[in-house]
Amino acid sequence: MKRKIALIPGDGIGPEIVKEAKKVLDKVCEVYGHEFVYEELLLGGASIDAHGVPLTQETIEKAKSSDAVLMGSIGGDAKTSSWYQLEPSKRPEAGLLGIRKALNLFANLRPAYLYEELKAACPLKEEVIGDGFDLIIVRELTGGLYFGERRTTEENGIRTAVDTLSYNEEEIRRIAIQAFEIAKKRRKKVTSVDKANVLDSSRLWRSVVEEVAADYPDIILEHMLVDNCAMQLVHNPGQFDVILTENMFGDILSDEASMVTGSIGMLSSASLNETGFGLYEPSHGSAPDIAGKGIANPIATILSAAMLLRFSLDLDKEADAVEKAVAEVLKEGFRTPDIFSDGMKKAGTEEMGTLIAEKIR
Ligand code: NAD
Ligand code: IPM
Ligand code: MN
Repeated sequence: MKRKIALIPGDGIGPEIVKEAKKVLDKVCEVYGHEFVYEELLLGGASIDAHGVPLTQETIEKAKSSDAVLMGSIGGDAKTSSWYQLEPSKRPEAGLLGIRKALNLFANLRPAYLYEELKAACPLKEEVIGDGFDLIIVRELTGGLYFGERRTTEENGIRTAVDTLSYNEEEIRRIAIQAFEIAKKRRKKVTSVDKANVLDSSRLWRSVVEEVAADYPDIILEHMLVDNCAMQLVHNPGQFDVILTENMFGDILSDEASMVTGSIGMLSSASLNETGFGLYEPSHGSAPDIAGKGIANPIATILSAAMLLRFSLDLDKEADAVEKAVAEVLKEGFRTPDIFSDGMKKAGTEEMGTLIAEKIR
């Protein structure tokens, strides 16, 4: 099968981890007889350096004409990088939000599960971990605070900044449907997370989610306030199956969920539009503190590539092979520094990628 994959290496550790994910995809092609044609696109800081803007029409068009997009991460250190001297709408993150909006990637799926082998890297106590956990965060990605009107003004020497959080029922309905459809294929439970005790947008969220739930009588729906959810994730993560939430809450909760899997370097993500077209990227950032050191964990990106195979290319067997290869390498004891514990074997970014690629069969 011949397919076109757009690659966005991005900034910081982005190029290092995308290189390893590509290595794994190349091995998939070799073993399963596919041909993937890659095209590298610029986004974020890399695009600013080349074109003066974090996102070009060319990147949007080329991403659109591919079968799927695999991305590293964008952004730099806000204190030291010149990108952050630019006005906010010209900074790397604006490019990421721009491409999400341009491709209408409203459904962000972030699965978090605990590998048996990574129990030692999980910061929770054994009795809290219990039998482990396997949850997926379904995060709305093109609305809410990220895309509301914002401004900073100054009057009588007093500065005021305003960000607006708005959702319409269509935006809520389509992401809720995604969550229920996913729950149907899992353990049939949706926890919708909001702040309905304070926010109007959350009260609308709750009532639209209830309306959608009426079409899914086999799925258990519970509502949870976001502050409680943040606590429950470290108190009893095993209670969750599908967590459905809005953009900002999903951003914060997914970093928290990643850490209970052992490391932020483990959490993959898929951002999909209504046709199933997707951009796949790790949930973590460009980690400027470790960029260029060869120690970043490439697993989140490799697992994102597995999601790309499954969701955008319909290659389930191949996706299974990638996920199995990751589990086998962990079972053999190889660990990048972020998930390292006593008695394990230290591996760098490249070695981890090679070990995983070698296990594809
Ligand atoms: P970050 O996720 O980049 O890093 C947080 C911490 O986690 C750092 O200590 C880092 O070293 C570590 N870490 C992250 N990924 C890792 C990996 N694969 N292996 C090992 N350790 C890893 O978050 P931050 O420092 O808050 O943000 C840095 C930059 O990344 C910012 O410019 C931010 O805007 C951007 N960012 C981009 C994305 C994205 O492209 N999707 C996501 C989050 C943050
Ligand atoms: C993420 C990131 C982005 C977000 C930033 C870089 C804009 O944190 O993908 O989780 O907040 O969505
Ligand atoms: Mn984030």
